[in-house]
Amino acid sequence: MSEKLFIFDTTLRDGEQSPGCSMNLEEKLVMARQLDRLGVDILEAGFPIASQGDFDAVSAISAEVRRPTIAALARANQLDIDRAWAALKDAAKPRIHTFLATSDIHLKYKLRKTREEVLKMIAWAVGHASSLCQDVEFSPEDAGRTDRSYLIECCHAAVEAGATVLNLPDTVGYCLEPEYEMMFADVKANVPGIENVVLSTHTHNDLGLAVANTLAGVRGGARQVECTINGIGERAGNAALEEVVMAVFVRRDVEPVHTDIRTEELYTASQLLTRLTGMQVQRNKAIVGRNAFAHEAGIHQDGYLKNAITYEIISPETVGMPADHIVLGKHSGRHALANRFRELGYELTKPEIERAYELFTRLADRKKNVYDEDLIGIVNEGFEHIPELYTLKLLESVSSSEGRSTATVELERDGQAFRESATAEGPCDAAFRAIDRITGIPGKVVDFSVHSVSAGADSTAEVSVRSRFQDKEFSGKSLSCNVVEAAARAYLQSANKGVYEIRRAVKQAASEAGSVHENELVDRLLPGGY
Ligand code: KIV
Ligand code: ZN
Repeated sequence: MSEKLFIFDTTLRDGEQSPGCSMNLEEKLVMARQLDRLGVDILEAGFPIASQGDFDAVSAISAEVRRPTIAALARANQLDIDRAWAALKDAAKPRIHTFLATSDIHLKYKLRKTREEVLKMIAWAVGHASSLCQDVEFSPEDAGRTDRSYLIECCHAAVEAGATVLNLPDTVGYCLEPEYEMMFADVKANVPGIENVVLSTHTHNDLGLAVANTLAGVRGGARQVECTINGIGERAGNAALEEVVMAVFVRRDVEPVHTDIRTEELYTASQLLTRLTGMQVQRNKAIVGRNAFAHEAGIHQDGYLKNAITYEIISPETVGMPADHIVLGKHSGRHALANRFRELGYELTKPEIERAYELFTRLADRKKNVYDEDLIGIVNEGFEHIPELYTLKLLESVSSSEGRSTATVELERDGQAFRESATAEGPCDAAFRAIDRITGIPGKVVDFSVHSVSAGADSTAEVSVRSRFQDKEFSGKSLSCNVVEAAARAYLQSANKGVYEIRRAVKQAASEAGSVHENELVDRLLPGGY
């Protein structure tokens, strides 16, 4: 029977304090609710002495989130500990987490204290925290670079003073797996009273080893792991919660532990954090990246379609990822292509598949990934390319930091010019709305990114847009030195695809209904005379 591994989430503390990840009170509460749904055992809600915002967040989360233990961080001094305790006062299950550096490097250059002084501080701080709260965690900061016999002395002092959890951080992400595992084994074997204390890992990803070290710590005897959603955290981040949890789950044949995490909530937690912080997850990120379940190579797709277990060790549903995204690329074969068309609602005949495959390979040679809308373009109207229905002739954009932005757009279709203006919060949005007025089919931008193609202030911007028209999504991409113009062109590209596809669907419906002339129906249903 495997033992329980406690999941200590520090997304709202170690994660939130890293650059680009800050959240306001309401956002922290929203994230805390999702962490609760996910089933984390301990939720570190903040560092109350650090700011009023952190104090308020710990207080609010303590008052509302009742199932997990709520932890608050404090340095090893009275002010910090009392402040942490005040913030935790409404928690159903509070924990004070106090820490003090123990490596000689930190003692000499940061604390300017002797080993004896630090030992006394640990005993006093843990003792004081224990007089307030039953559950006290102590972290010897930079344990990974601390002299082993001194680390054992520090851990002993903390246990004697009442610590219930001992966390051994690899604060600077320096340890290799065998070293990290051995540190736990040494502490477990040499600290009196350790059998009544939970050992915990806390790893940073500076060498890309955070998750591997976490698992090594578990092998060494840790039964609590500290981690963050998407691995956010100081510098290169902390161990990614979703990766640790899924490693333990998938390799339950060899791992001695299990967690109580609801794995199907992982993707939602990852997406929510991305939305709240704006910190994007890399596409190939394990477990929650957009490509994590995408199969491109033809041989992989073929195997996957015959039986998913050939190339998939986790099903997307296990982590709550909606549908699978098969990205087609130049290595994809006819089988995968025909299958994707079928899923998109196109049952192609053999000759049609041959023709589609020819067009697809031509496209895939120029384009790395071929998405659904490209495939729709291939099959539309006898495999014709989607024409540029509207072309951008003019864009005037006025924006100010003081108010709304205005855009005037002129588009041309079949030699005829159409001009419209719109206002919105930002200049790109204003341009999109003006385009919508002309096409008559409003789109919703679901993804928008800007990349600089070259270096320097005059670099070219590449804007990628994904927009939803009715219930389908289409992408567009454009380059310009003017970001608003690139955005307008990219959006127009997606709108051209959307309008084209909607027109096709309406035509098809008309011809199936038979009673109305198809062009008449198109005119009636699609505004803007399209
Ligand atoms: O990395 C670290 O050492 C920490 C401690 C405060 C636990 O975050
Ligand atoms: Zn840390």
